[in-house]
Amino acid sequence: MSDESLPPDLQQMAADLNQAQQHFQQARTEWERQAAQLAEARDRLADMEERNRSLTLALETSRGQMAAERQRAQAHQERGDRLAHILQQLHRAVARGNVHQWILQACLSITQASRGLYLTADGPQGALRVRAAVEMDGYPDAAPSERILALCHPVLETGETSVFRHPTDLAGLPGPWRPSEEFPNCVAAPVVLMKKARGVILVAQKRDGTFDDDDVQTLLHIGDEAAAALENETLRRQLQDAYLATVRVLSDAMEVKDPYTQGHSDMVSRYADRIALHLGLSEYDRSIVSYAALLHDIGKIGVSDGVLNKPGPLLPEERALVRSHVRVGADLLRHVPVLDPVAEVVLHHHEWYDGSGYPDGLQGEDIPIGARIVSVVDAYSAMITRRSYKEPYPETRAREELRACARIQFDPRVVEAFLAVLDEPEDEEGEGGTGHDDRLRPLEALFQRHA
Ligand SMILES: [Fe+2]
Repeated sequence: MSDESLPPDLQQMAADLNQAQQHFQQARTEWERQAAQLAEARDRLADMEERNRSLTLALETSRGQMAAERQRAQAHQERGDRLAHILQQLHRAVARGNVHQWILQACLSITQASRGLYLTADGPQGALRVRAAVEMDGYPDAAPSERILALCHPVLETGETSVFRHPTDLAGLPGPWRPSEEFPNCVAAPVVLMKKARGVILVAQKRDGTFDDDDVQTLLHIGDEAAAALENETLRRQLQDAYLATVRVLSDAMEVKDPYTQGHSDMVSRYADRIALHLGLSEYDRSIVSYAALLHDIGKIGVSDGVLNKPGPLLPEERALVRSHVRVGADLLRHVPVLDPVAEVVLHHHEWYDGSGYPDGLQGEDIPIGARIVSVVDAYSAMITRRSYKEPYPETRAREELRACARIQFDPRVVEAFLAVLDEPEDEEGEGGTGHDDRLRPLEALFQRHA
């Protein structure tokens, strides 16, 4: 049935209905489109939330890791700082000589261990000797027990560190000699000197927990540094001994050349040191004075015996030759760098306080104090000594000459100090003794300043 067959009002209703249906269809399509968009937006939002959650989680993990990392770095930094401080102290301890106890204390402190031993392998057999002990009954005086030997021998033989983290690790060792040897954990590290394990540092009974890899590394580090410091010290002592031997040879050569001066240099050196002590000079200056006094006439090696021992007055050229001994001597000593300040004193030991001496005509305080001291004692010694061309002066006359020449030839303060020293009993040298071989002060002070 066509619409034209319907009455007009029905036709209108049908048309309206049709239009309404079209609107409804459009609205539905639009609703479905929006619903789809909404669903898509929801999905995206869910994705974003998920990503956000993951990121937050990752961020928190990363924050935790960073905090842990920071803590570790700080712990390492603190450990590094302590280690650096300890190593700095170590080199000083080596110079002072009480190095074993010091190294052991440092190892215990940095590994938080309660007790320990420092042992060295001495002699051709490499017998172990306890050099330092902390909280270990009977040590360091006692010989190492079977248990300690069993802990240390493998370390010496292999050069490797032994770590015993738990009491069960120590079960196979001989029993403890004293209760203090019964510790729950320990580390035994080698001290390698000249490429050979020559000592063992044993640290035991960590205060908290047991020893970790950091402790082992730290011990090895300290062991290496200790070894390097000890090697340096050994070489330094050998070098000092070589220098001392050189000084002895020079001094002996001079006395062989001029038998009249036998004992003269020793005497000048001994008195010069006592004057330096009396005047309150530093250890360094006393060493300079002492060596300069011993070697002050070394330049006479280059002057012929005929001129040196000539009875009667010298010709001008002979006098010039004798005077050259100050420069010859100073040049000779300057070849040994550590004796350079000694050379300066040797150069000026014939300067006069009033400026009329040689070689540079220095005056008063411009003359090195060592040279002013040597000058006084040298003159006194020459006066009381018999020479081929003169009889010895009596001591009282020699003293009068010194007083008479104060302010002209000699520093009056040094003359007074010397006369006071002469009146002291011989054995009152106090710390002014001339060192381990009774002739020479140790070169220690000169070396320390030179380094
Ligand atoms: Fe001289």
